[in-house]
Formats: sequence, C-alpha cells, structure tokens
Amino acid sequence: MQVSKLNENENPAGISHDSHGDLGDGYVDVDGVRLKLSHPYEAPGQWIGQREILMQLLACWITIDDSDLPLTPRLTGPPGVGKTQLAIAAAQAQKRPLFIYQCTADTRPEDLLVTPVLSQNGTIAYHASPLVTAMLLGGVCVLDEGNRMNEKSWASLAPLLDGRRYVESIVAGITIHAAKEFRSAVTMNQDESTFEIPDYIMSRLQPTLAVGFPNKQDEMAILQYHLPFAKAEMLAMTVEFLQHSHELKLDFSPRDGINLLRFAIKRMMQDKNHPVASDTAWQEALEKCLGKEAIDLESLAERHRRTLGGDSVPLGLADLFFDSDDPMHPDREDDDDDEDILF
Ligand SMILES: Nc1ncnc2c1ncn2[C@@H]1O[C@H](COP(=O)(O)OP(=O)(O)O)[C@@H](O)[C@H]1O
Ligand SMILES: [Mg+2]
Repeated sequence: MQVSKLNENENPAGISHDSHGDLGDGYVDVDGVRLKLSHPYEAPGQWIGQREILMQLLACWITIDDSDLPLTPRLTGPPGVGKTQLAIAAAQAQKRPLFIYQCTADTRPEDLLVTPVLSQNGTIAYHASPLVTAMLLGGVCVLDEGNRMNEKSWASLAPLLDGRRYVESIVAGITIHAAKEFRSAVTMNQDESTFEIPDYIMSRLQPTLAVGFPNKQDEMAILQYHLPFAKAEMLAMTVEFLQHSHELKLDFSPRDGINLLRFAIKRMMQDKNHPVASDTAWQEALEKCLGKEAIDLESLAERHRRTLGGDSVPLGLADLFFDSDDPMHPDREDDDDDEDILF
C-alpha cells in the first residue's frame, strides 16, 4: 500500500519508465516473473550543518544530458558521524522514494537482488530487495555499511554500478534494468570489522566523500534536534566533551553524544522524589556509554597516539628469537658490563 501511494504521488515517472511490466499493488512483473517490492524508508531525515558535503552528494546524482550517467559515491567516516543521515537527507531532498539496504558480512548476492520465499499455497514468491525495488521504481538506494559485505556480493553489482545499469538475478532467472531515475550511494565505516573491497568495485564507487565531525555550533544544533527536551546545561556539557574529543582526534561522535544524553536524562527523571544531580547523571552516562577511559580524554588520546605507532621501536631480527632482557640477546645493553669496567 505504501509503495502504491509513493508511486502515484511522488514518483509518477517510476511507473512508465520502460518495459519492466505493470506496477501493481506493491508488485512488478519483470520478464514474466512477479516481484514483491520492498517498503520504502519514510522517517524524516534532516541534515544539519556541513552544507558542502550535501551539495557534493546531490551533484553526484545530477545528469546533465541523456548520455550522462549519475555517480554512486561512497560516504566514508568514523561510526556515528552522520553518513547514513546524510544519505537519507539527500534522498529526501530529491523527493524520491528511499530504500536502505543494511549490508552485513553474510549478505549473499540473492539477498541483495531477489530472494525466493515459499508462500502459503506452496508456490515460490519472489521478493525484490530494497536495492532492486529502488531500481524498478526509480528511487534512491543507500547501501549502508557497504564494506561489511564480501566480494561475491559486490561482484553481483558490478554491472549496475557502471554504464550497463542492470543486475542479473540467478535465482529468478531474470535481468533487471534500473529505471532512469535510479540513484545510489554507499556508506562505509572506517573500522576494522570490514572486508577489503576489490579495486574494480572501488573504481565504480566514486567519488569518495569524507564526512567529518561537525563544528561546535552544528553539533549543538544536531543534539538539540534529536533531543529537544534536553536541558541547555546538559547539551553544553556534551558538546564541550565532543568538541574536545574531536580536537584530540578521538572518534566519539554525535551518536555517542545522543546516547549519552538520553541515558543521563532518563536517570535524572527516574526517581522524582530524589532526583539525581545533572552532573552526576552525566558523569555516570559518560562512563556507562563510552567506557571508563572516556573520563580522561587526554590520556586516552596519548594512548591512541602510541598504539598508532608513533613511539614504538622497530624490532630487529634478534627480537624474534630473544626477549629484550634475555642475556643471549645480541643487542642487549648489559648493565653488568659497565660495572665490570668501573670496578
Ligand atoms: N548533520 C547531522 N544532522 C542531523 N543529524 C545528525 C547529523 N550528524 C549526525 N546526526 C545524527 O547522529 C546519529 C548518527 O548518525 P548516523 O548517520 O547513523 O552515523 P553513521 O552512519 O556515520 O554511523 C544519528 O542519530 C543522526 O541522526
Ligand atoms: Mg550508518
């Protein structure tokens, strides 16, 4: 039902784009195979501050000529910085239906395209993924946290991401062409639990738009937007903390700030007769949400700097065979030798 509403009111172009068959009530026929469409994402998604990166993302989706193709950019940055929010806001600015596909390490190619589902009367029903639904309706698809997905799944998208703009569903035995209005973007977290995406795919995901942490004013506006009920002093403490952590190149994000504040406020409201002081609640939330080490940002930053390799002494070949204090270690500086010379 939701899908039909979107098609009629917001994306009439999506219905008549070409020979994909008729758009039924949440179904599309492609080469005689009936596909059940996914539901669009409809929550509001406002982007606050950092206008430039929003404009860069929107520019990727412009086509200036019939022969021109839109780009599929990758949005990179630390977790919680606002990558998904940016993609949602851009899709909404385009007034197109938005579909979000959450990529995971065990996403299979058919999950990304078409999945067969056994229906009640024993026949097979084919479900179009959010990606395929966006392709058929001329919507926007955000492949969220794309670098969690393995190469096999990425390979199935190679033809979609270049001039060919189609995918092949082995399961349904059909080739699905993207509507002219179809647009996409991929978000990628900079953390360890991800796959290395092969170069032939990376070269199709261009340009790279790096989402950075917001400045003080924007960070305040973001927290206020998400937590309009938070007291000014709580917001100020959190913004101060986040800005300090950005200066120290630590990865605490607006998401961390939002979670921390939510917990602190809930704790303060919990017992109306003996309300917890805002300072105490905030400190407790800091420790419980972000860990003990977040209490002392300076030391945390110093530890990070060291583990990133700044101070580590390179190992020699002998270090592989001997502990540094082993008397057999050829490079060992032996205090006893000095003593021998002196006495
Ligand atoms: N510029 C922004 N405007 C509005 N909300 C933001 C902004 N940046 C971050 N947020 C909020 O911070 C949280 C984390 O953002 P999200 O997009 O999920 O991060 P990421 O995808 O980078 O991990 C979300 O609640 C999001 O709404
Ligand atoms: Mg995200």
